[in-house]
Amino acid sequence: MSHPTKYIQQAKDLFNKSHTHPLFKEEAEAQLQQLRNCIHYFDRKYYVDAETLISDFEYDQLFSFLKKIEQQFPELITEDSPSQRVARALTEDFTSVLHTVPMLSLENSYNAADLLDFHRRVSEYVNTTEINYVVEPKFDGSSIALVYENDMLVRAATRGDGIAGEDITNNAKVIRSIPLSANFSAYGIQKIELRGEVVISNDFFENFNKQREQQGLSTFQNSRNTAAGTLRLKDPNEVAKRGLEAFIYHIAFAVDNDGNNVLGKQLHSHNENIHLLHDLGFKTPTIEKKLGTINEVISFCEAWENKRGIYAYEIDGMVIKVDTIATQQLVGATAHHPRWAIAYKFKAKQATTKLERIEYQVGRTGAVTPVAKLTPVPLAGVTISSVSLHNEDFIKEKDVRLGDTVIVERAGEVIPYIVGSVVAARTGNEQEIHFPKNCPSCNSELVKPEDESVWRCINIDCPAQVEEKIIHFVSKDAMDIDGLGRDIVIRFIKEGIINHLTDIYKIVATQPNEKLQQIRNLQGWKEKSVNNLISGINNSKANPLWRLINGLGIRHVGVTTAKYLATQVSHLNDYKDWSLEKLTQLQDVGPKVATSIHDFFSNEQNILLIEHLEALGVNVTNDRSQSTVSDKLSGKTFLFTGTLTQFTRDEAKELVERNGGKLLSGVSKNLHYLVAGAEAGSKLEKAQKIESIKIIDETEFLRMIE
Ligand code: IVH
Repeated sequence: MSHPTKYIQQAKDLFNKSHTHPLFKEEAEAQLQQLRNCIHYFDRKYYVDAETLISDFEYDQLFSFLKKIEQQFPELITEDSPSQRVARALTEDFTSVLHTVPMLSLENSYNAADLLDFHRRVSEYVNTTEINYVVEPKFDGSSIALVYENDMLVRAATRGDGIAGEDITNNAKVIRSIPLSANFSAYGIQKIELRGEVVISNDFFENFNKQREQQGLSTFQNSRNTAAGTLRLKDPNEVAKRGLEAFIYHIAFAVDNDGNNVLGKQLHSHNENIHLLHDLGFKTPTIEKKLGTINEVISFCEAWENKRGIYAYEIDGMVIKVDTIATQQLVGATAHHPRWAIAYKFKAKQATTKLERIEYQVGRTGAVTPVAKLTPVPLAGVTISSVSLHNEDFIKEKDVRLGDTVIVERAGEVIPYIVGSVVAARTGNEQEIHFPKNCPSCNSELVKPEDESVWRCINIDCPAQVEEKIIHFVSKDAMDIDGLGRDIVIRFIKEGIINHLTDIYKIVATQPNEKLQQIRNLQGWKEKSVNNLISGINNSKANPLWRLINGLGIRHVGVTTAKYLATQVSHLNDYKDWSLEKLTQLQDVGPKVATSIHDFFSNEQNILLIEHLEALGVNVTNDRSQSTVSDKLSGKTFLFTGTLTQFTRDEAKELVERNGGKLLSGVSKNLHYLVAGAEAGSKLEKAQKIESIKIIDETEFLRMIE
């Protein structure tokens, strides 16, 4: 039986047993052993190899079974049990720890000439030009040092000043790609210190920021700072939610039972060491190539510079290392960096441009966001002309002024942001930015609660807010009304066709009606577009409840919370009878979110709105047949590209979600299936380069959910 099949079968057996409590300690011990092995195996597949073999539900069952037995027999808990990753207490202040070997940084190179020079220098040390190199990505994260003794992880530390770092062992233990134990003793290693980089994948980072935005929290600028900041959080439970992953790329120290160094002896080649670490359960660089000549190294680096965007993690260059450890030792290091390695830095994804003016946008919650309008500038493949300045504090902190030359940066797929102003380029004509005191839309006075950084317009009739609320209601993640996009909503509001959410459904209420007549009279509206609109609005009436909940724009409630809230009641207005305490007890609903839901349903206007929508035919009930219909795609991720003929994009999305799968927005290593229609372009090309992605057509996709 292959490994996956064996463990999946074992998981099923254990799952069945989980309903009967083990009575004897021996029995418990045996089951614990099996459970740990299973969970370790699935963890490794998921967190190291990015393969999902069982559903989240099944995994959770195994985990709670493990905890149940451990609770009954606490003496059987081992230090490397998966349950020990769940940190309980807040970390005390981080203590300073000395690194076994200093954590050096790398010398930088920027072009082929620099690399040729590096090769020449190395060749002079070893008296030969025949040198094997290994080329790896240069991860743009936060470096970490891990010490294992007698196979157990005993310490994790940050880089610090390179000589001493901070002890962050408790936080490292919640990073699932860091094994709590590894079988080093099988290789005669008693103590080993590993070096690597803690990173956050682009997909995770993007989603994480989206979720924070929906919850009204500030977003993070880039994954590097987020990873570094997260490693030093006091609460390991929070660390566990931040999607940290650790790539290991260096062995700094390794000794056997007699304290003899084995690095450069048994562990004689970097390339082999990395593969060994991968076999022992560590996540290691996925682009990792051994090359025999410096010209091959140069081509490999240049090729990756051109396609860095397809990598699932932020990388800011490549690292070139001499492969043979004995050669590395011969070449040695300066006080700052090894002479046997060099970083090849990609060109920065930064540009400078002029800040021309500020526009203040009023969001649907009344938050006023300053947006910098820039002289358009090309940056990493797109033209940037507009960048958010977030809030007043951000402007003050960065001291950006009107007319300033500003540095804009775009990291990965992430939205561009302003790094700061070029103070030296100021002419004296720049003007300080004064945040407005009144709403740019309705002129009412803005307010700012003491503990917030955002100025808000609190006039609920503010036209800008009403407009944004309606735009949000019809948007893709909410009621997803075909034929009614942002621009059309703005036009309908201007024409007085829509003033309120319920007006949308009045368009199709009784036909023929006045609103419909008005639309028919608008320039550019033909029978076909009118019919499209009518069916779009009518179709949305039968939407699953979560779409309406998200569409209502309850503060701090995004798609995830909306989906969950939809499963807890049979009629949406049932929430009006829920106490704050009851709401707080819901999964993942903290006091802030609970208060906001409570406020929403305590407001008579909102209850009436829901009643009106119901009277107009909108589904306000939790119809289970609308939610998940199967878990055939559970744990699998999909992306659709090219022209689809058998279903629309939206239907495809619905099909994936209703069968338990997940949609991704771009090609990355986390993608399992790319469904390609005719004329699929760059996404297909990208996917073809990643071995683990299966490329299928529409028919094959339909077969999967048959
Ligand atoms: S090797 C003695 N390999 O880049 C050799 N470093 O600017 C130590 N980094 O401090 C480093 N990816 O944090 C190495 N594949 C890689 C790397 C890498 C990222 C970081 C590391 C180092 C910094 C130097």
